[in-house]
Amino acid sequence: MSTAKKEYKRVTVKTLVDMKANGEKISMLTAYDYTMAKIVDGAGVDVILVGDSASNVMAGHETTLPITLDQMIYHASSVVRAAERALIVVDLPFGTYQSDPKEALRSAIRIMKESGGHAVKLEGGKEIKESIKRILHAGIPVMGHLGLTPQSIYKFGTYTVRAKEEEEAQRLIDDAKMLEKVGCFAIVLEKIPAKLAKQVAESVSIPIIGIGAGNGVDGQVLVVHDMLGMTHEFHPRFLRRYLNLYEDMTNAMAQYVSDVKAVDFPNENEQY
Ligand code: KIV
Repeated sequence: MSTAKKEYKRVTVKTLVDMKANGEKISMLTAYDYTMAKIVDGAGVDVILVGDSASNVMAGHETTLPITLDQMIYHASSVVRAAERALIVVDLPFGTYQSDPKEALRSAIRIMKESGGHAVKLEGGKEIKESIKRILHAGIPVMGHLGLTPQSIYKFGTYTVRAKEEEEAQRLIDDAKMLEKVGCFAIVLEKIPAKLAKQVAESVSIPIIGIGAGNGVDGQVLVVHDMLGMTHEFHPRFLRRYLNLYEDMTNAMAQYVSDVKAVDFPNENEQY
């Protein structure tokens, strides 16, 4: 049974800021299609992230870099058709906002107009400040994303924990304060030390949503296929698997194959 609080008719960016002020933790999961989004929304999850992790889990790419704006819009529109309560945040994919603020605004407008999503998420700090400001000036809510930013994987070289050293940690704190100051409504912090994440959450008034960032933050996000155990080759320490669907689905499908071969399916009640 869901223990989620459901008193919000529709979660908005303001709801999230209020939740932080009231000490209520924020739940966020990814979804990329209609059927999954219906389940996520019905379970009372506050925010659905149409993440560019669709590039990995839906399309099988090694990184998030290949997914296009058109593909993100396709995934986001499917989610928008399903969700009645959750706030829907859509990732701006790699290459659609880094070159200049005008391009960033054009990309964000396409997401909002063509998918019906409620907000966009961008990876990075001061290097994309002008793009974020431009999008915000157009009335589009922006969620930031700091720490491990998978669109920059080739710069980092690995998916290991970020900001362990003092200099990078200080840069991250400065970036978080800057994102709050320009008007972002929330920030995702990915794979950084729990102590630093807590420090960031305490130093800004907008919600900090963590993935691999400990429990001193204002909310948590996971990739839905990971927490359901549909992916099984990914074992980061931060991941809690609530089901083992890879095994359960494989067993169900193997049973189906065997039933078909044995002419056990369909039986008399399963035909016309
Ligand atoms: O794309 C994604 O799924 C994300 C989460 C990991 C935060 O950005």
